Amino acid sequence: MQKKKLVVLTGAGISAESGLAVFRGSNGLWGKYRVDDVATIEGWYRNPELVLQFYNERRKELLKSYPHYGHEGLVDLEDVYDVRVITQNVDDLHERAGSSNVLHLHGRLMWVRSEKNENLRFELPADNCEIHVGDIASDGAQLRPDIVWFGEAVPMLDAAIDWVEEADIFVVIGTSLNVYPAAGLLHYVKRGVPVFLIDPNPVKDPYGKVTTYINCVASEGVKQLVELLSKEY
Ligand code: OAD
Repeated sequence: MQKKKLVVLTGAGISAESGLAVFRGSNGLWGKYRVDDVATIEGWYRNPELVLQFYNERRKELLKSYPHYGHEGLVDLEDVYDVRVITQNVDDLHERAGSSNVLHLHGRLMWVRSEKNENLRFELPADNCEIHVGDIASDGAQLRPDIVWFGEAVPMLDAAIDWVEEADIFVVIGTSLNVYPAAGLLHYVKRGVPVFLIDPNPVKDPYGKVTTYINCVASEGVKQLVELLSKEY
């Protein structure tokens, strides 16, 4: 029998228990850094070294972090479901936990690319994961983080929409749903599809799609989700 399609949209909150800061809220990264400085193309043109430094630090933090049950429980669900993870996160904790199908909407922290050609990309080795002004791609252009910054096109969006439209069950974990087009993916969930939202804080559901709120941190929320999905669906 064909497995049901379980599509999961994750955000920074799923990696919080791994020690990676979320973006918004009192301890969020955007309280310490200006988005305009480090996550826009204008910021990159103004001060590329500052941007590179920001992402060099994020990579070093990521290398000290490990997935937890929030990530791993989604892998356990692959025994029963065709699980597809759409993540806004640039970390690789879903892959390191063992998820088979991960789509990164906002790029990947460990990857860099030519400033001039987005198809000229490669993964940095863990033991040499910094880039600086003057480090160039094979086309001679400056290397930049392979991150989708605010104001840039989201190349993986259409593929993500296809997954969402096919979902039999949809799950949202650890995202404030503040950033579009990622938050807009909920709009594409078919009518009648059960939608679970796991978050310790209240999150506004922009399209009224959520059917079950699980108000707790990701590790505990995914545990409850696994229990629910092994019984009822
Ligand atoms: P936010 O920081 O906006 O939201 C994080 C969400 O995680 C909030 O709803 C928190 O309540 C929740 N949260 C906190 N701790 C949690 C835990 N232990 N378990 C589960 N949830 C928890 O992060 P995102 O919604 O991911 O984009 O932000 C979206 C995008 O904005 C990011 O991809 C990034 C950012 O600017 C770029 O940099 C391009």
